[in-house]
Amino acid sequence: MPSYDAVFQSSINNPEEFWAEAAKGITWYKECDKVLDSSDAPFYKWFSGGKMNTCYNAIDRHIENGRADQTAIIYDSPVTDTLTKISYKELLDKVSTFAGALKSQGVEKGDTVVLYMPMIPEAAVAMLACARIGAVHSVVFGGFAPHELAIRIDHAQPKLIITASGAVEGKKTLAYKPLVDEAIKLSTHEVNTVILFQRDIVKAEMIEGRDLDWNELVSKSEPTGCVEVDATDPLYILYTSGTTGMPKGVIRDNGGHAVALLWTMKNLYDINPGEVWWSASDVGWVVGHSYIVYAPLLQGSTTVFYEGKPVGTPDAGAFWRVISDHKVKALFTAPTAFRAIKKEDPNGLFFEKYDTSCFECLYLAGERTDPDTLHWAEDLIGVPVIDHWWQTETGWAIVGNCRGIEELPVKEGSPTKPMPGYDVQVLDDAGEQVAAGVNGNIVVKLPLPPGNLTTLWRNDERFIKSYMTTFPGYYETSDGGYIDEDGYVYVMGRMDDVINIAGHRLSTGAMEEIIANHPDVAECAVFGTDDQLKGQLPVGLFVVKAGVDRPSADIQAELVKMVRESIGPIACFKEASQVVRLPKTRSGKILRGTMRSIANSKDYNMPSTIDDPVILDEITETLKGMGYGKE
Ligand code: COA
Ligand code: AMP
Repeated sequence: MPSYDAVFQSSINNPEEFWAEAAKGITWYKECDKVLDSSDAPFYKWFSGGKMNTCYNAIDRHIENGRADQTAIIYDSPVTDTLTKISYKELLDKVSTFAGALKSQGVEKGDTVVLYMPMIPEAAVAMLACARIGAVHSVVFGGFAPHELAIRIDHAQPKLIITASGAVEGKKTLAYKPLVDEAIKLSTHEVNTVILFQRDIVKAEMIEGRDLDWNELVSKSEPTGCVEVDATDPLYILYTSGTTGMPKGVIRDNGGHAVALLWTMKNLYDINPGEVWWSASDVGWVVGHSYIVYAPLLQGSTTVFYEGKPVGTPDAGAFWRVISDHKVKALFTAPTAFRAIKKEDPNGLFFEKYDTSCFECLYLAGERTDPDTLHWAEDLIGVPVIDHWWQTETGWAIVGNCRGIEELPVKEGSPTKPMPGYDVQVLDDAGEQVAAGVNGNIVVKLPLPPGNLTTLWRNDERFIKSYMTTFPGYYETSDGGYIDEDGYVYVMGRMDDVINIAGHRLSTGAMEEIIANHPDVAECAVFGTDDQLKGQLPVGLFVVKAGVDRPSADIQAELVKMVRESIGPIACFKEASQVVRLPKTRSGKILRGTMRSIANSKDYNMPSTIDDPVILDEITETLKGMGYGKE
């Protein structure tokens, strides 16, 4: 077995050879002409000239290889008391028929389709059906409000929308249909067709002439085969938070994505065909795309769809129950889920109740795994706990611990070493490499490996500006951190206005844009504060316009409501305070970073360009009144 070092070096020294070898795991209708086409850098193209179909690779070929009766998806929904197992053969029936249904509604290769779905297998069926006919799906997370859904509808311009009547969120039942109706009203793009999956838990009112019932439509549809697509054709658009209210539409291609994800299942996660894998995330996030749907199915393993929470559905033993019931070999989730379990069951009493002898590894990502959570989880479950770092843009881990190649010793606070394919470096603001142990901007030398974003949907310019301009020749991750003398990478946090709430990526800039719309607000700042459970939570400070003398508490409540209604409950924006003024540089830039440091009790240097240092005392007092900062 080659060592991690040998595999990593070969991926960096001979990327084309390395990924051409990995591409043998995929079934191609036509092999590529060029493994890596750099002719239009930084718009690199992997496997150009290659023809394949992602859905064929995720379903059909496993049936041809004798896996027809193996379970592809286990749907476990504790609150609705549902357990369903779908074999590869049954999945093929569902997907090929739903693909036929899409075709009957005029969806063709290259068309976009927006999905607003809860954690039910129909979400995967719809995604794979799009892939089958070469349509480009764009899944929007169900915790986003109509306004956010409308922004994505307008930008993606879908041929139709696929949704369900509602979701189970913790113990609550949420109706999705009114949100979709409202989003369609808000958007300027005309939506003439909505396909809706009715659930028993909540019934949706249908709009005659526009809304189609999923089951009725499927009963009238014929199965359809896989369409040949170019490896470089888009598979999906996934919108993710940037620094403004307009999210970034990350584009994933078909060929590079399939090759890279398949490679990670064995080499990173050590999962073989036929084994049970569970990613406790949501289909609306990149983790859900890559590791609930595509990667486990490409590998011919079994994937668990869990429609529940780590706690409260019904208790803090939920994860152990699922692992034990379904013989899960490895689980991938966010550290916040483990902090939630730890809070409710610090002594792990629930863990003792279940036979988890099948369980071999816990993978964590979405935010930094803090040493407390790492050690608590290690001590409790007695298997490796592996942190790994990635982003929506990359689609798979940038830094990790390749257990399928060589498991490296874990160092607390580090997701371990660069994954094969990623030449990770740390640069100072002038673009010079820093010494080991010195903090800076984490970047990846181009080209990025297959499976990474190829551009932003209908916005090549923003792709270049956001990722390729600050450090020419490198992908800018916007995360800061350092690499130690052993080559371990430490990711310390975002350098921009993106924050991470319970493993969910949100933009403080987007929240500021909403608050700034309040008629009484002159200016505002939103920044992330450290939170023991969710990692970070947003806090807002605002200044009112001259002459406004309404009670501050009323304005605060209105701002909280506005953010919840515009972005959605997952923004978790619950706190705002009025201040007389905000600290700024002499050129008028609001010093959000300094306020963040004060709120999080971190030392900071007085910015040399600050307009009036006294304001920081006022801000410190206000934040103290809100319970933030040093006593
Ligand atoms: N649809 C609609 N609303 C949703 C939603 C969805 N899919 N997901 C979350 N929400 C709502 C919640 O109901 C909550 O609303 P409330 O303010 O009315 O209570 C709000 O958004 C905040 O949700 P969340 O941050 O998830 O908080 P929580 O208290 O409900 O749960 C945890 C806390 C830690 C248990 C939960 O965040 C969790 O399980 N996290 C794991 C994260 C994860 O898997 N991340 C994926 C990236 S790897
Ligand atoms: P998302 O695009 O939603 O996956 O969020 C990506 C961001 O989450 C990264 O830029 C990091 O800031 C953060 N992140 C994800 N995983 C980790 C990790 N293992 N360690 C530290 N930060 C992480």
